Amino acid sequence: MKIFIDTANLAEIKEAASMGLLDGVTTNPSLVAKEGLEFKPLLKEICKLVDGDISAEVVATDTEGMLREGRDLAKIDAKIVVKVPLTKDGLKAVRTFAAEGIRTNVTLCFSPTQALLAAKAGAYIISPFVGRLDDISSDGMGLIQQILTIYDNYEFDTQVLVASIRHPMHVVDSAMMGAHIGTMPFSVITQLIKHPLTDLGLERFLSDWKKSQK
Ligand code: E4P
Repeated sequence: MKIFIDTANLAEIKEAASMGLLDGVTTNPSLVAKEGLEFKPLLKEICKLVDGDISAEVVATDTEGMLREGRDLAKIDAKIVVKVPLTKDGLKAVRTFAAEGIRTNVTLCFSPTQALLAAKAGAYIISPFVGRLDDISSDGMGLIQQILTIYDNYEFDTQVLVASIRHPMHVVDSAMMGAHIGTMPFSVITQLIKHPLTDLGLERFLSDWKKSQK
């Protein structure tokens, strides 16, 4: 499973990339706004740091506007994947982008029917938001299983990116189900590494070693 970081923070991206485990980056308008930096220069910097897909979202809500913004974003770097919301206008834009060879990440997916339509429109990536579904007492990971089954039934090439990951169990379940990508905040990437028995074991090894050196 590919691991993406869900942030527009350069320090976090740099740190995660230095661990050698980063396969890509997802950004969204909220994450970019938090950084208080200009969008395009920020994307250029991110592209320099990571060798993988970098999702950049359009903010237009009409097809023509999405196409204009998306074509512009795609020109920044070959790594850019244009993120488009899962609306009727968005799906129209996805079809045109696919015909032009521009890769899309269809975002804000909350149902299997939305995911089916995104794949039929030619999405490169679909982003179902598991955490936000769990927040309203729905089964986020259940949606991932449904989408994987549907895509498998019809051999769609669209990659399933598990978005809105909140904790390591979302990552474990995604990997068990065979999702293609998981995108997560830096804090979750760090949690994936940690285990109290690793810390305790290391502490014991080092203290035993020290004692033997006296
Ligand atoms: C995905 O691309 C989104 O940026 C993201 O995963 C949303 O996560 P949130 O629900 O924690 O905001």
